[in-house]
Amino acid sequence: MSEGAAKKEEKPRKFQAIRGTRDLLPPETALWNRVEQTARDVFATFGFGEIRPPIFEGTELFARSVGSETDIVSKEMYTFVDRSEKLEPQPVIGGMDVFLQRVKQLYKSGEIPQDEIGLELVEKQWKKVDELLKGASSIESGAIEIYELIMLFEALRLGGDVSLRPEATASVCRAYIEHGMQQLPQPVKLYYMGPMFRRERPQKGRYRQFYQIGAEVLGGSDAPAIDAEVIEMVMTFFDRLELQGVQLDINSIGDRNCRPKYVELLRAELLKVRDKLGADSQRRIETNPLRVLDSKLESEQGIIATLPRIADHLCEECAAHYAAVKHQLEMRGVIYRENWRLVRGLDYYMRTTFEITAQGLGSQNAVCGGGRYDGLVELLGGPPTKGIGFAIGEDRLILSLQESGKAPAQQGRDVYIAWMGERAHATAIRAAKDLRKAGFSVELPPVEQKFGKALGQADKLGAKYALILGDNEVSEGLWTLKTLADGSQAKFTEPDLLEHLRKQKVLSS
Ligand code: HAM
Repeated sequence: MSEGAAKKEEKPRKFQAIRGTRDLLPPETALWNRVEQTARDVFATFGFGEIRPPIFEGTELFARSVGSETDIVSKEMYTFVDRSEKLEPQPVIGGMDVFLQRVKQLYKSGEIPQDEIGLELVEKQWKKVDELLKGASSIESGAIEIYELIMLFEALRLGGDVSLRPEATASVCRAYIEHGMQQLPQPVKLYYMGPMFRRERPQKGRYRQFYQIGAEVLGGSDAPAIDAEVIEMVMTFFDRLELQGVQLDINSIGDRNCRPKYVELLRAELLKVRDKLGADSQRRIETNPLRVLDSKLESEQGIIATLPRIADHLCEECAAHYAAVKHQLEMRGVIYRENWRLVRGLDYYMRTTFEITAQGLGSQNAVCGGGRYDGLVELLGGPPTKGIGFAIGEDRLILSLQESGKAPAQQGRDVYIAWMGERAHATAIRAAKDLRKAGFSVELPPVEQKFGKALGQADKLGAKYALILGDNEVSEGLWTLKTLADGSQAKFTEPDLLEHLRKQKVLSS
């Protein structure tokens, strides 16, 4: 191998962010912060408090709530085994009761996952275990039963399947149950923001790590005014951000009463036109016919237009609820469009569903999705509880704001301190400290620079002012402030300078 080739091979590998993930950098992050602060401000005015659930949970939680047949759970979750370890039951005299006590403790502390296996073995079989544990003699004499138990407990694992959260509604419901929030004044109103993970095909507005800002209302009644207020809150938020081209679509997908009948009708109709549908839709006739309505395939649009519509098949209660939601939206001046094909891709929804699109996003134009999910808390082992919420795709929201020029310009420094000389350096350090304390953004060069270079640097950083500190300034106690926009210069004493800058800041804000 030539020397050159060897050198080439030695070149260290360049690392890149994993496909579908990205770094958010300044100045863009300033916009992210502004968006998040606006969400906090607006949501607080509607009485919402923040919840920060963990980023990973037991896989079972998402499978049960989002639905194990959905794309999100069946194809897109990042799932891994969290220290799977077998428990080794000890079939020795006296060993079994120690082992069983340990199992009980580990289950209580959550180290043995509280999933279906755990539930069956620890909660359901425990009566039998307790009977056996009553006396050491009976344990040893019930050898066959003990053997059976050992076989059963071999299936128990320490740790288990966990997944990075693909969404947060399931976590919020889990937390509601876990913290006994049904004891609080109802409804409980919570919001969250943070990263979610779905292994989708990356494209503009679609990432594998993306960010959501979401809110959930749990407990209390299912009054249509709650649905309308939640929607009003998102629209207020978008309005505050001056998001352009906002379009709200709403629908009702019925409940346990009326939806199954409609789904059967839809399935029957779809079977009649099966051959004209694409492979995905053909499969969905069996798995989830409602999702066919979601199809964007050009060739299927004509067929879908002829299918029965859920609005014509809602039961009386659902129809009344939907009509009242629409009325409530009108009372709030929220403009909506009814979209009978809006079904949403998660299993937990019932009755009200909604989606919001915005300008400049191409095919991934849904910037918010949500709906009602009464019954989800119960499905997760909690009391019967009403629920409704939404999640905004923050990446898409930011994209849309940028596309319409609503993104703020890069924030430059307020003051660049151009110092020269050892004495001036000490003064500059003190000046930086005082200016920062007063809330100004200050750039203090770490090494001495010629004034020309310092001013050039100040310009590049978009500084408003250059504070010039040389030996003369320090000995006179008069500091030179240069306004970079017009090149004007003035001298100030230290306290006057601070006062002057404060006044200028008030004027410009
Ligand atoms: P979702 O419709 O799956 O609903 O997601 C909500 C929003 O998250 C979407 O409208 C979109 O803006 C954004 N989003 C989803 N996937 C991606 C992705 N791969 N890249 C970028 N953005 C994405 C939910 O997640 C429900 N938990 C919403 C909810 C809360 N329903 C009731 N409460």
